[in-house]
Amino acid sequence: MMKRSVLKRGIVGLVALLGVAALASGVGAQSDDGELRETEHITIENPGQLTAEKAEQIYQSISEELTTFYAMSESTTAKRFRKWRRYNKAPYLSATHGNRYVNNYANAKAKGYDAMSRGVQMPAGAIFAKDSFTVTKEGEVFGAALFIMEKLAPGKSPRTADWRYAEILPDGSFAGDSAGDNARDMDYCHACHKIKAKYDYLYYVPRKYRP
Ligand code: HEC
Repeated sequence: MMKRSVLKRGIVGLVALLGVAALASGVGAQSDDGELRETEHITIENPGQLTAEKAEQIYQSISEELTTFYAMSESTTAKRFRKWRRYNKAPYLSATHGNRYVNNYANAKAKGYDAMSRGVQMPAGAIFAKDSFTVTKEGEVFGAALFIMEKLAPGKSPRTADWRYAEILPDGSFAGDSAGDNARDMDYCHACHKIKAKYDYLYYVPRKYRP
């Protein structure tokens, strides 16, 4: 699903995220091509499918640092979303977003983002933010992308039903922005979200992960 280049940049981002820990313990290493290798991770035992409690515990331990890296993008959403309401109770595995553990945050304008009002049309300015992290089979934890959907003013982006899709990597760079650089790289977001056109292109948090 993800393009290689995006994945690679994602990995470089992860190294940036973990670089702090690596430096602190003095094991940051340069490979021959000068790129930082992953040498230090938060590691957990018996990863498998994490329990909600474990996923939440890991999230709490990396979230502040992860948010700092997203914020380097200068995106207002990246700077603000952690203060918004979270619509899931603990990070859950999202196969559609690269098999990462994700959360779903929404700002105050995204009124009615809950089961009762599924199908409500979101007003311009409604923003959804999904931060994420990866846990490997070996139990290594990496920060991953911040996925953003923002409802634009009517007529602003007919190609994407006036939704803006963006993905910020954990080194603060944009993998793409449907309203900016690498816009076409974000086409696959709308291609999948289009399936939910009836619900204003929103999937909503799966029932079992709601608080
Ligand atoms: C293959 C389908 C698919 C693709 C591709 C996809 N999504 Fe999603 N998206 C979903 C599903 C399913 C959910 C709800 C379940 C979940 O969180 O995994 C969701 C939820 C979201 C949400 C929370 C709002 C909502 O719909 O309830 C955001 C924000 C989001 N996706 C952003 C993106 C962005 C940005 C991209 C592209 C970089 C993207 N998505 C690509 C299927 C997809």
